[in-house]
Amino acid sequence: MLKGKLVLLRPVQRTDAGYFLKWFNDPEVTQYLGMYLPMTEMAEQKYIEELGASKAATDAPFVVEAIDGDKSKPIGSIGLHRINPKDHSATLGIAIGDKQYWSKGYGTEAARLIIKYGFEQVNLHRISSSAWSFNERSLRLHLKVGFREEGRRREAVYINGAYHDEVMFGLLREEWEKLK
Ligand SMILES: CC(C)(COP(=O)(O)OP(=O)(O)OC[C@H]1O[C@@H](n2cnc3c(N)ncnc32)[C@H](O)[C@@H]1OP(=O)(O)O)[C@@H](O)C(=O)NCCC(=O)NCCS
Repeated sequence: MLKGKLVLLRPVQRTDAGYFLKWFNDPEVTQYLGMYLPMTEMAEQKYIEELGASKAATDAPFVVEAIDGDKSKPIGSIGLHRINPKDHSATLGIAIGDKQYWSKGYGTEAARLIIKYGFEQVNLHRISSSAWSFNERSLRLHLKVGFREEGRRREAVYINGAYHDEVMFGLLREEWEKLK
């Protein structure tokens, strides 16, 4: 478990399927994630089961819980994906699925915790990420935690009736160490 002041990150459990179903069937959330088909209970269960098998070596997924005194409650998910042991690289994914918790610093702290984990525990050299160009909160979060914009895949995604750029980000370990 990774613990900060606002959030803790803990491993995924089978009982999280209900949260994932709620968050990843909410169009206000999924517009930022490139998901556009209904998320079925079967697909969620399969995803969770695969975390215990083939994906176990390349994915480090966590549930984000908001800390409230002695208690905490699930508000989203975050993970390092496609962990590559040759290049020492991985890709960040983050979604605060409970909209009540948007723009209150929870995502930023969760990202900082998983980045620290990626560099200090997984021994990564580089973390990649991306966000749609209209996702102001995510663009801001990436820059705040130290990512640099590396380019744009122009009009790469079609969402809500229009094409948008995908903004590509990268964070190297040495850059992150200077920020600490
Ligand atoms: C993107 C996401 C992870 C950000 O987490 P969060 O907890 O909401 O964001 P934070 O409060 O930590 O930081 C957001 C920053 O964006 C800023 N912001 C919020 N709305 C903004 C807007 N409309 N324009 C510009 N900046 C904005 C905030 O002020 C804050 O920056 P600051 O600390 O410098 O003031 C979260 O909103 C989320 O999961 N959204 C839905 C799914 C998603 O977009 N996932 C990411 C896919 S790349």
